[in-house]
Parts: sequence; structure tokens; C-alpha cells
Amino acid sequence: MKFLILFGPPGAGKGTVARKIERAISIATGDLFRDHLKRNSELGQKARAFMDDGKLVPDDITIAMLKERLEQPDCQQAELIILDGFPRTKPQAEAFLESFPEAEILTIYLSVKDDVIVNRLIGRWTCPKCKRTYNTNLHAAIIKGGNCVTEKCETPLERRPDDESEETIRTRLKVYHRETKPVLGFLREKKLTIKRVMGNKPPETVLKNVKKALG
Ligand code: AP5
Ligand code: MG
Repeated sequence: MKFLILFGPPGAGKGTVARKIERAISIATGDLFRDHLKRNSELGQKARAFMDDGKLVPDDITIAMLKERLEQPDCQQAELIILDGFPRTKPQAEAFLESFPEAEILTIYLSVKDDVIVNRLIGRWTCPKCKRTYNTNLHAAIIKGGNCVTEKCETPLERRPDDESEETIRTRLKVYHRETKPVLGFLREKKLTIKRVMGNKPPETVLKNVKKALG
């Protein structure tokens, strides 16, 4: 199997980039949790409080949920699987590498400064149906209408609860620096290839540079 780990802080643009990479299945653990929440599943109930506070969902829940997703037939046949938002802790990275010892894995680290991120996340609007994200800084005219403009979607846009307060955004950033960023060092120790792409450029430039890094 071939994986691309899209690594980076909250709001780095992981979801924005992942959506534009052709011939790949993109799995965002945050989206899997939000789908569980919407269905009111037991797993969703367990994850809710952590997500609303900007904290990480415990590893056992996250790893089991991702494993289940990766066992589905579309993943077995995929040319490339993009992991958006996983692994976020050392135990998650260890569990992943143990499960896929033969996999070809590339990590792309989207780096963006904290203050840029706060501004981005405060301005983010998301389509709950097709998951496309918009931003008041980039798409002010579209957001005024309030509906997703993706063809045949037209769903009213929503703000994610974890984007609603600057305090929660700052907690997510703290958690990222404390628990997630060190995972890069762990992946490096395991001799995985890590390529850095500056995420503070316009979205088209970021996408072009990610595709170049992918080869
Ligand atoms: P998750 O949904 O993964 O959130 P996140 O990591 O905080 O990342 P985001 O989705 O906020 O950012 P993104 O990098 O996808 O940016 P986007 O493309 O939207 O996780 C949510 C929660 O779930 C976590 O807090 C945790 O509780 C839980 N969770 C998830 N995975 C977990 C795990 N593995 N373990 C434990 N818990 C887990 O872009 C952001 C905005 O910027 C958008 O408005 C976009 O339009 C705009 N934008 C994008 N690119 C650019 C650009 N180049 N220039 C300007 N604006 C841009
Ligand atoms: Mg995302």
C-alpha cells in the first residue's frame, strides 16, 4: 500500500490540499469523528468532549476507528491513501507503522505560523455535506450567499464548533506543539522520507508544491 501522511498544524490547509489530489483516497480522522457525531454513534459521543475542547481524542479510539476505515474495500484497491490528521501522537505512529510494515510512506509537512492559523480558522466555513472549506479571507463574496457553491451541493455552510472561539483554536495549537509536532522526529528516526512545504502561500501554489513533492 502507498500512503501520504499530510502532516501539519490545525488550519495548515491539509483538507484543502487533500481534496485536490487526484487518484487518491483521502481519510481525515477529524471528518471521521464528525461523521460519527452526526450519526450520534457511541464513538461520536466519546469523541465530542475532546473535540469541542480542542484536545486529542484518546489513541485507542482513534487507532481502532482508522483501522476499521482502512479495512474497507476502496482502501484495499487504492493507488494512494492520504492520511489527513493522522498520526498525531507517537503511539498512533507506532501502531500505524506496525500495521503496515511493508507500506511505501511519504510524509509532507505543511508548515504555517500560529498567528496565520488563528486568522484562518476564525474565518473558516465548511460544507457539512461535501466537506469543502471556504474562508472569509479568500471567498468573502461566495460566503455572503451562505451556501456551498460546489456543483449540485448548495448545502448551507457551517462553522465548526472548534473554530468558534480563539481560546479553543489556541488550545489546539498548544496540543499540536506539545503532542503532535514531536511525531515528525519519531518518523525521521524510523527513516521515513519527510518533505516540507510552506503552507503560507496561496492555495494554488501550496497544491503545486505538494504535487511536486509527491513526484
Ligand atoms: P481535524 O478535523 O483534523 O482538525 P485540525 O487538525 O485542527 O485541522 P483542520 O481541519 O482545522 O485544518 P486543515 O489543515 O485541514 O485546514 P483546512 O484545509 O480546513 O481534527 C479535529 C479534531 O478531531 C481534533 O482537534 C481532535 O480532537 C480530533 N482528532 C482528529 N484527528 C485526530 C487524531 N489523529 N488523534 C486524536 N484526535 C484527533 O484550511 C483551513 C482554512 O484555511 C480554510 O478556511 C481554508 O479555506 C483556508 N486555507 C487553506 N489553505 C489556505 C492557503 N494556502 N492560504 C489561505 N487560506 C487557506
Ligand atoms: Mg481538516
